[in-house]
Amino acid sequence: MTYTSAHDAVRHAEQCPIHELVPMHPELLRCPYGMNRRLRSEAPVFRDPASGIWFISRHEDVVAMAQDPETFSSVMPAAMSRATASDDPDMRAVMAESYPNVPTMLTQDPPLQRRYRKFVDGAFGPANLRALEPFIDATSNHLIDGFIDAGQCNFLEAFGIPLPLRVIASQIGTPEADLPRLRAWTEAFIGNLSQQLDRDGQLAAAKGILEFQRYFVQRMDERRAEPRDDILSKVVNASIDGEKPLDNAECLSMLSQILVAGNETTAASLTEGIWLLIDNPDQYALLEADHGPEMISRFVEEVLRISSPSSNMFRRTTRDVTLHGVTIPANSVCFARFASANHDERVFDDPLRFDIQRDNLRQHVAFGIGIHHCLGAALARREMNIAFRVIFERLKNFRLADGASPPTFAPNALLHGMLGLHVAFERR
Ligand code: HEM
Repeated sequence: MTYTSAHDAVRHAEQCPIHELVPMHPELLRCPYGMNRRLRSEAPVFRDPASGIWFISRHEDVVAMAQDPETFSSVMPAAMSRATASDDPDMRAVMAESYPNVPTMLTQDPPLQRRYRKFVDGAFGPANLRALEPFIDATSNHLIDGFIDAGQCNFLEAFGIPLPLRVIASQIGTPEADLPRLRAWTEAFIGNLSQQLDRDGQLAAAKGILEFQRYFVQRMDERRAEPRDDILSKVVNASIDGEKPLDNAECLSMLSQILVAGNETTAASLTEGIWLLIDNPDQYALLEADHGPEMISRFVEEVLRISSPSSNMFRRTTRDVTLHGVTIPANSVCFARFASANHDERVFDDPLRFDIQRDNLRQHVAFGIGIHHCLGAALARREMNIAFRVIFERLKNFRLADGASPPTFAPNALLHGMLGLHVAFERR
């Protein structure tokens, strides 16, 4: 299906016969809200004919599937990385030098999923997070120092991306000088997941991932020889009950998940939070009047619900499943649609209204639910609470910068985030 404008695509999705929906169309990945409302109401179990993926869109169904890993497995042989199955000679050459993408936490089922997670759970536990608070606070202030005098910035580039990147790099144990490379590699992983790359894009992403692997294999060797107090050391030297330590491919898989899951998602929610203030002056006024910890926490949860950056996650059926009268055959690839679940009108009244005073705003599943519930949820929440407190303390009157258009989103099947957000503001 080709459309003459993004508006056309979105309008068509709201009006066309349901079987004509093209849910992976880039314009609908950018702006899925109208389509999602239709899917929830008319086709809560919908098979996309183009990709063959089953879209599960209602809150109660997404929660049920996330809580039933025996039926909905997270082990995904090919769908997470199309490069693996490529017959392109250049791609095969890159893949031949790369470590295989072995399933670990996010992409693994119990009991192995639990085993991998055990190695890093402590690093994201309450004691470590408390110790990290001064660093998050200082980094937020430092980033604001960098753009406050200009009175405007691209918030995504100036704050949204660098804050979580610096925090996660400090935890993994990589030096500040390597931040640009970590960012480039994160983008390579995201591109690989987007399901939107052409052949050259896929090759570039595969090369980026190979560079990431070479860099981290070296760092891992260093930590085996001389462990430090960081996630790299924990992962490479992990051994519970005398089990053999993880091999390089397992460690790389864990590190890539922490890097990718930790960066883009938090960056997306931080940035969308600022846009939601601009776009909802009544809510902004409430927070201007009271930005104490309870109100900031409500704001953060409502931003997470509306933004839901981890929008869809893969599952594979291990048996035939019948839902709403539709049978999904065994071995089908499905999407657990966390973003659609968070906008389900059956749970959230007037779901696209941004309302920090909602009674049930904590009922969102932006971090998933069940055994795969986000490893970094407490960290992301801590980062967002501290960052927005510092922002309210230092900046006011956020608005779109002169000449800037309202933000648009990147077309990505799994992650929903803005391409940029050009804002003006004043010093408080
Ligand atoms: C706003 C920020 C974040 C959002 C919205 C988010 C969202 C999610 C969601 C929805 C899942 C469940 C996936 C599923 O059920 O298949 C998940 C899992 C995961 N997240 Fe996050 N995440 C965020 C931040 C982070 C951070 C900061 C880290 C860094 C450690 C992280 C690491 C992970 C990992 C490793 C998993 C897999 C856990 C497992 O399968 O056992 N995430 N995240």
